Amino acid sequence: MKDTSIDPYNRVAWFPCLAHFAMSFKDLNNDVLRDESSDHPIQQILNHHALEDGSHWKWYLKDIKSLGLDQMMRFSDFLKFMWSDEMLKTRRLSNNLVAMCRYQKDPLLRLAIVEAIEATGTPALSTMALVSEELKALTQNRYFYFSGHHVKVETGHIQSGMEHDETEKLLLAIELTEEQEVQSMQLVEQVFDSFTECMEGLMTFAEKHSFDELREKTHPMRGFDTAEMALMG
Ligand SMILES: [Fe+2]
Repeated sequence: MKDTSIDPYNRVAWFPCLAHFAMSFKDLNNDVLRDESSDHPIQQILNHHALEDGSHWKWYLKDIKSLGLDQMMRFSDFLKFMWSDEMLKTRRLSNNLVAMCRYQKDPLLRLAIVEAIEATGTPALSTMALVSEELKALTQNRYFYFSGHHVKVETGHIQSGMEHDETEKLLLAIELTEEQEVQSMQLVEQVFDSFTECMEGLMTFAEKHSFDELREKTHPMRGFDTAEMALMG
């Protein structure tokens, strides 16, 4: 991502592969993490956060369009692409996050998961923003998901509606029981492992496919050929 000797488009050739995660994040926030019936102060902060982060999928769709990847495609080809073996590591990330949160009723442990997600988001988004600046200079297109626009709202902490320092103060004041501490450490490790695996998958994809090839393949008149689809599983 930081290697400016590589064409900026090729440095984001993985972008369509993030689709399952970017779109599942909508459900993770709006359907899984939100609980309006709770009066627990941490759950209320989680609700505030979910409302913000659960809407960022719209930016992902805007960027897909701006990158020229929004051509018509057969519905079945799209499904095969999204559920191909090459996308498995991204789907695992989405599925793991939902699995971790769905039946986790302790708001403090949910908070540990969200904080770990946010801790991965900031360095990733800041690096992506460098590439989007290069693309913007080339095309004049504005990007929203992989850009400074996204970095601005992701402070590295849960989006609580408070200033960064205030949020940090609140987080540091939380006391966990021994059991909560052990569990939260396990959850944080699982979040980091899942993101690492997803990034490996995106890297493999970007190494195998050029951006131009991808733009060709999502073209309505071309699509993926049958042999290629078989390889994708
Ligand atoms: Fe976000």
